[in-house]
Amino acid sequence: MVLPVTGYADRWSVKQGGTIRFHVATDRPRPYSARVARVLCGDPNPAGPGYREIAMHCAIEGRHQGQAQPIARGSFIEVPQLVLPDDGALAFAITLLPTLGTDAVQPLLTLDGAVPIAIGLRHGSAFARIGEAEIACTRKLTPRRWHDVVLVLAGGVATLHQAPRAPRLDREEAETATAPIATRPEGACRLRIAADQATRFTGKLERPWIAAGIAEIDAMLATQRAPLGVVANGTVALWDFSRAIATDTATDLGPQHADGILRNLPTRAVTGAAWDGSAHRWVENPAHYGAIHFHADDVGDLGWQPSLALAIPDDWPSGLYALHLDADGARDIIPFAVRARDPGRRARVALLLPTFTYQIYANFRRDDRAARIHAHAPAWGALSHTPTGHPEYGLSTYDDHLDGSGISIASMRRPMIDKRVNQVQHAGIEEYESGTYWLVADSYLLDLLDRKGIAVEVLTDHDLQAEGTAALAPYACVLTGQHPEYHTVETWDAIAGYIGTGGRFMYMGGNGFYWKVVPHADGPWALEIRRAEGGIRVWAAEPGEYFHQFDGTLGGLWRRVGRTPQSLVGVGFSTQGDYKAYPYTWLDGIGDPRVAFMREGLAAVPGEEFGGRGLMGGGAAGHELDRIDFRLGTPLHALVVARAVVSDPEYHPVNEERLSIEWPGTHEQIIRSDITFFEAAGGGAVFSVGSMNFVGALPVDGYDNSCAKLIENVVRRFADPRPFPLPIPSA
Ligand SMILES: [Fe+2]
Repeated sequence: MVLPVTGYADRWSVKQGGTIRFHVATDRPRPYSARVARVLCGDPNPAGPGYREIAMHCAIEGRHQGQAQPIARGSFIEVPQLVLPDDGALAFAITLLPTLGTDAVQPLLTLDGAVPIAIGLRHGSAFARIGEAEIACTRKLTPRRWHDVVLVLAGGVATLHQAPRAPRLDREEAETATAPIATRPEGACRLRIAADQATRFTGKLERPWIAAGIAEIDAMLATQRAPLGVVANGTVALWDFSRAIATDTATDLGPQHADGILRNLPTRAVTGAAWDGSAHRWVENPAHYGAIHFHADDVGDLGWQPSLALAIPDDWPSGLYALHLDADGARDIIPFAVRARDPGRRARVALLLPTFTYQIYANFRRDDRAARIHAHAPAWGALSHTPTGHPEYGLSTYDDHLDGSGISIASMRRPMIDKRVNQVQHAGIEEYESGTYWLVADSYLLDLLDRKGIAVEVLTDHDLQAEGTAALAPYACVLTGQHPEYHTVETWDAIAGYIGTGGRFMYMGGNGFYWKVVPHADGPWALEIRRAEGGIRVWAAEPGEYFHQFDGTLGGLWRRVGRTPQSLVGVGFSTQGDYKAYPYTWLDGIGDPRVAFMREGLAAVPGEEFGGRGLMGGGAAGHELDRIDFRLGTPLHALVVARAVVSDPEYHPVNEERLSIEWPGTHEQIIRSDITFFEAAGGGAVFSVGSMNFVGALPVDGYDNSCAKLIENVVRRFADPRPFPLPIPSA
């Protein structure tokens, strides 16, 4: 069931003077109202700072007529035009690995023309329809095994053949069926691969082939099983999915070059029927990667019509904004960032919103939390929808497709209904808690700085992708959000470049800089993740499928592909537990003259605790914790100023550190978070909290607490142009 009103923006951020467009859909033609606000704090919890915003009056404020917009889930290939020969035998072949094991129709090839043709599976067996004539096999093809299906139309007879690539030893699957046909298609047609009008195929398809003048099943089968790249005589069209893998094009090797257009981002760079384990990197042997994995629940660009265009006035401050939508009391909120046209002029500090991580997590279905959120939200005036019950917008890369394969591509051109403000993502544990995450949690940082009178501007990962270090360079100090987990080569390099040239960087979260993602060739509106090798992960990339389709590079944890978070920000992921959080203890490091600025107005006594309360899990150190590791690249001069060793038995070491049933170290070495500081080249510095729930401790007591004071002190010093001298001992 679609939401009464929802939508998506065409971008995550817009500069003052720029225009952002919103694609809005209502469930049926009906009016809705729109208004825009600047968000001061996104958390609806009345026991915290509360949801607060400032109305921003603009031209799109008011009533609009809403329309339903289409949601056509499921990936497939569209071939706009192909011309079939007028006479002689006509034959079709396709290789498939079905993954669902369903009795429902699974379309393989569909031709629209004067005599339509459909080839597919029904009750697990091949069937074909040629005009009015139907023909079907009856033996079920085994799911998750490779098969070929061939259809030959010759001499007024249709012959349909299905055969496994590797015969089963316990039963026969190969079968041939025949039926008379009155006519066969000819002339121009439109073709769909993996789809018909209504349904979509789920599984892998390879090498759809149409041939003229071949009347023998065996001849078709032999060629279909020959190595990819061979174009047999008589070929009308042969789509070779091992070509142009990084694109949305299905290359036709036939004489008409009737290339297909991929819709809804199917998974490419997957092992094909020829894969024998000898190659794992598809660029080395594309012929082993001749398949595309289609899913009936893939969602790419929904392609909705733009509904509202908002020109940002120059005097709207940079910050976090919300488009509020309301249709007869049903609400949704589309968040976006406004950037400064002249960055750094009004503020020396910037918050880098981790929009890659928001997008990768968008529509994360958590049925275990949904009921609590639905029960909790109305009393707080918060949005109450969750991805549970709304699969139509596509799920997250933390979910599985309906065939159990992991979702590896995340689009922003669809409603991301759990990445809103005035929303909870996690019902609290303690009575006063908010259960916040993502945007809502990150808004605490804006609220803190605003209350302390520190001017701050915002930008996003998507801006960093486009502009590199130049996007950060105007700022003396840049803070991350609570969970900057996903980065591309480009965003990583942008941050490293900033740190390496005198920038001051504050990593305000946990489990950051963990997974590699790759943007679509047309930009990061779609991001790809291959959950390869190790790590805490909810699905695992299949053997042979560790390399990204978007650029051919190895996917996985950054530490598995040659970069470590410790080398960038001093700390890296060490342990994960429940959302429950715990206090920190000051270490001797806080007394070091190098960090005297941190102690201003703080009774930071080594051995004493702080951060024992918070809106996220009831403390500052919780959920996902990072620590220093010199072996993994923590700068040797890094100073740990506070540490939380968590005794909670629910906390465990991360998988990538475990080789056997033994823990990789003692409890004190592993189950902890280190608040870490180090000076960097060019007078810069890095400060890292290494805890996912740290920002939830900031709003406690009206942002008047040790965690908030520590962050305020660091931001003030980091915004101060005086260089940080490297701690080189004098001779
Ligand atoms: Fe995460």
